[in-house]
Amino acid sequence: MSMQVVDKFYGRRKGRPLKKQKTEFLKTLDLYKIKFPLDLKTIFPNTQEVWLEIGFGGGEHLAALAEQNREVGFIGAEAFMNGVASFLQYRSEKQLTNVRLFPDDVRLLLQELPDNSIQKVFILFPDPWPKKKHHKRRIVNPKLLSELSRIVKKGGEVRLASDVPDYIEHMQRAFQSVSEFHPYFCSQEKPNFWPSTRYEMKAIEAQQYPQYLIYLKD
Ligand SMILES: C[S@@+](CC[C@H](N)C(=O)[O-])C[C@H]1O[C@@H](n2cnc3c(N)ncnc32)[C@H](O)[C@@H]1O
Repeated sequence: MSMQVVDKFYGRRKGRPLKKQKTEFLKTLDLYKIKFPLDLKTIFPNTQEVWLEIGFGGGEHLAALAEQNREVGFIGAEAFMNGVASFLQYRSEKQLTNVRLFPDDVRLLLQELPDNSIQKVFILFPDPWPKKKHHKRRIVNPKLLSELSRIVKKGGEVRLASDVPDYIEHMQRAFQSVSEFHPYFCSQEKPNFWPSTRYEMKAIEAQQYPQYLIYLKD
């Protein structure tokens, strides 16, 4: 196990000061936080499947899925504390007892997850890093996909979305280089089982129409 293998993390961890209510929700984080050593059976004793959302932002997609699928165990990873606080509010309002959080760089979590342990992974509107010299910072990259190939179960899936055409192509190229996944869905029409996210709504308002992708693990 190595906690130092992660390269520099480029995202923001803190933004505007949290409002008082959000600060109160953040005080509950320790109760729902993933701790190491990781034992999924202890965390989710009665669940057949574990789903993982990477970079859940404000948590609206994670909250909607967790509410619709209470028999599933969810892990939400988000490094930005304002987002974590927003999700904790949804958690409390909707009584989402089936969700655990990893409030840090997801790559630290991925290396601890056992092989074939995750049924679905969601990476929605990842930070675009538009400048070519920053493309190596994009979270969807060969190293991440190699971890996903290891942790996603056979028949499992990875759902992705972006409103940046160049990032969609970047994702498609990255998946082409991983033989364990095959493309299953690619469209600008979002399936109706797919909840919205804050970034998605902003993109649509700005008339930057997203593309939605699903890859299946062979
Ligand atoms: C552009 S936002 C999209 C948020 C959300 N998925 C949405 O669609 O509204 C990308 C999010 O990914 C998070 N993120 C980026 N890199 C991450 C990492 N390595 N580990 C955990 N979260 C990360 C950022 O903090 C940010 O909240």
